[in-house]
Amino acid sequence: MKFGHFDDANREYVIETPRTPYPWINYLGTQGFFSLISNTAGGYSFYKDARLRRITRYRYNNVPIDMGGRYFYINDNGTIWNPGWSPVKTELDAYECRHGMGYTIITGKKNGLKAQVTFFVPQDYDGEVQQVVLTNESGSDKTFKFWSFAEWCLWDAQDDCTNFQRNFSTGRVEIKDSVIYHKTEYRDRRNHYAFYSVNDKIDGYDTDRDTFIGLYNGFHNPQAVLDGKCGNSLADGWSPIASHFKEITLKAGESKTLVFVLGYVEMPVDKKFEADGKTINKEKALAMIEKYNTPEKFAAGMKELRTYWDKLLGILNVNTPEDKVNRMVNIWNQYQCMVTFNLSRSASYFESGIGRGMGFRDSNQDILGFVHQIPDRARERLIDIASTQLEDGGCYHQYQPLTKKGNADIGGDFSDDPLWMILSVSAYIKETGDWSILDAKVPYDNDESKAKSMLDHLTVSFYHIVNNLGPHGLPLAMRADWNDCINLSCFSDTPGESFQTYTNPKFKAEGGYSKVAESVFVAALFTYVGPNFVGILNHLGKADEAKKAQAEIDKMKKVMMDSAWDGNWFMRAYDANGQKMGSKECEEGQIFIEPQGFAIMSDIDKDATKKTLAAIDERLNTKHGLVLNNPAFSKYYVEYGEISTYPGGYKENAGIFTHNNAWIICAEAYAGRGDKAFEYYSKIAPAFNEEISDLHKTEPYVYGQMIAGKDASRFGEGKNSWLTGTAAWNMVAISQYILGVQPDFDGLRVDPSIPHAWDGFTATRQFRGATYRITVKNPDHVCKGVKSMTVDGKAVDGCIIPDLGSGEHQVEVVLG
Ligand code: GLC
Ligand code: GLC
Repeated sequence: MKFGHFDDANREYVIETPRTPYPWINYLGTQGFFSLISNTAGGYSFYKDARLRRITRYRYNNVPIDMGGRYFYINDNGTIWNPGWSPVKTELDAYECRHGMGYTIITGKKNGLKAQVTFFVPQDYDGEVQQVVLTNESGSDKTFKFWSFAEWCLWDAQDDCTNFQRNFSTGRVEIKDSVIYHKTEYRDRRNHYAFYSVNDKIDGYDTDRDTFIGLYNGFHNPQAVLDGKCGNSLADGWSPIASHFKEITLKAGESKTLVFVLGYVEMPVDKKFEADGKTINKEKALAMIEKYNTPEKFAAGMKELRTYWDKLLGILNVNTPEDKVNRMVNIWNQYQCMVTFNLSRSASYFESGIGRGMGFRDSNQDILGFVHQIPDRARERLIDIASTQLEDGGCYHQYQPLTKKGNADIGGDFSDDPLWMILSVSAYIKETGDWSILDAKVPYDNDESKAKSMLDHLTVSFYHIVNNLGPHGLPLAMRADWNDCINLSCFSDTPGESFQTYTNPKFKAEGGYSKVAESVFVAALFTYVGPNFVGILNHLGKADEAKKAQAEIDKMKKVMMDSAWDGNWFMRAYDANGQKMGSKECEEGQIFIEPQGFAIMSDIDKDATKKTLAAIDERLNTKHGLVLNNPAFSKYYVEYGEISTYPGGYKENAGIFTHNNAWIICAEAYAGRGDKAFEYYSKIAPAFNEEISDLHKTEPYVYGQMIAGKDASRFGEGKNSWLTGTAAWNMVAISQYILGVQPDFDGLRVDPSIPHAWDGFTATRQFRGATYRITVKNPDHVCKGVKSMTVDGKAVDGCIIPDLGSGEHQVEVVLG
């Protein structure tokens, strides 16, 4: 069952009912100011950091769901409604929500009154702009009352929902003309405030929540709205809000447009106040309001946003025989990659924004799907991430976006972290040809005095693996590898201990983790990522160092065949007791997905590749995607940690963790099995699941982290949408492995691995200053194999388009 439809021409998903199976959201903003907005206008805004600079309040896991947002209330002679249906939930005569690239348009109609609200965050602007167009379609004059509503968060979102003894006494606001300013703590240590404005005279306002809503009412029946008035209240402690009030009369057919700005301002300390030393200096806020105070300016801002996305989405554009692929590649997958790049795993409807900062491994992987869009920002990000690395190559697992400092509470010793940086820096160089990043001086542990070149960072990353091997010569598993829930050094038996950070006393003396537990996944990742490091060294003319690194990779491949090959697939690990994990010898969890794809793409062994792919199909494949492990764990294994705490079929315990489905899609494509690669791709790509939205529940336009696996009673149900490494990896899987348009150090490779039934496809790719118009023909209906390639009519050996640097070029590739 569907709840809307794709409007590809406008690059929108159009939601046709407010009662989606879960709130379906969108993200506004791509730089400093971000808003989450659901299809009923729920959500919240923040500046840079969803925890430390939260601007509006949100109620997680609320009953009813999705409470807190920017709400407009209408009281039309006793009929009270919101354009987005919620929170009043009066049945509307018509409803529609269009989620687009960086904007959302919600339209509601009731009793002949139409209210269309467009929300967006303009480019280079720290605020959300909202345009409300009210149209009287009733055929006779109409007088009604209108309120805006936003609830301020007292900045630190975690403190805001825990520290009430203090916070109920700190709230402060100021009102001037039609602008409501939120200035809690501005008098003392904060140099920032927020404001909510409207470009029209108002008939009143409220800033005290209890006056507006009433202590025993809810968002669905605010007392002020019921009474058809406002209290002109001045918040003093408690919960400050911002509500504008207006009485409006519209003649038949007449429209009224209001433009609201919800903005954020930082002030230099010496300019915080007016001459009286008390009143806040509003200069910057007024300039922001001035920028979007008319419908014309609003339209210009929207146009600018559209142009921005035209440009970004013009860099890679494909036309395949499958509309759903085109829709994913050209629009939604790239869009989601921007969001994951910006927010890592910090703020979504499943990530509260107060739990995690930017993940080291996550953010590095996010670069893979984003780097072609804005390479400059990718470069800046790489340097930020690398700056949190430690001198021995270890890494802080997370950092706070506002401070850019490694998070000491979570610490490090996640065994896979350093490798992802080699991969992301390589991806950056392959995309841009900008080798100079390797010379950039980058601090260790955010300490400038410890700065060394980025190449040095990659070197310590590579050798961090080599220098931390276990008894079989496989990398130590440490606190966890990519799978946060395989915690082989934890042995936790006390509720509440964090599986990732708890140090078992028995490993204290050894540095916090077992020196026996080894990760086959990290070994496989090492053999996949390592050649990039070798390629870089060779390019720099460091042949000896390249040879030395290559020898380590070859050695690891041998160890994998000697000690980690289980006969039909690669094992997952050795636990701290030296026992096999992910082996046919185990009672449960005999096969795991994670190491397989990278092992295959590292060409460890041809026969192993064949057997592994067959085992995956047989043991992990389901109609909704590939489960992470099989059989699921049915009891708690203290030696494995968090993974066995999840009921079978959920999350890392045999859930369909879509992130690593992508690695198998890549591996199938790499192995030349385009049909199988595409089969796996189409099981998890959201556009292909639109028809089962009632089961799938999450947005049909973006990936989620997980789909419940075959062991779960809710098999096929999605969770944790938006912030997942699946976005980047499936972008890589479809564009670089299946369609095969893959940046490499020497140029752009075109080596597709497609369904044999396809006649071919076309792609436009901007790459290092040139535009390539690529036509792939498949007359023999093969899956893979480039028979010939021409660039501007001239034959080229192999399948790499040489770096032409500028102009537009025709590329023809014939498979066969
Ligand atoms: C989450 C984490 C990611 C981890 C994955 C598997 O998505 O963000 O870092 O790799 O879970 O545990
Ligand atoms: C839990 C989740 C995992 C996530 C981790 C980090 O272990 O299952 O997906 O990566 O928390 O916070």
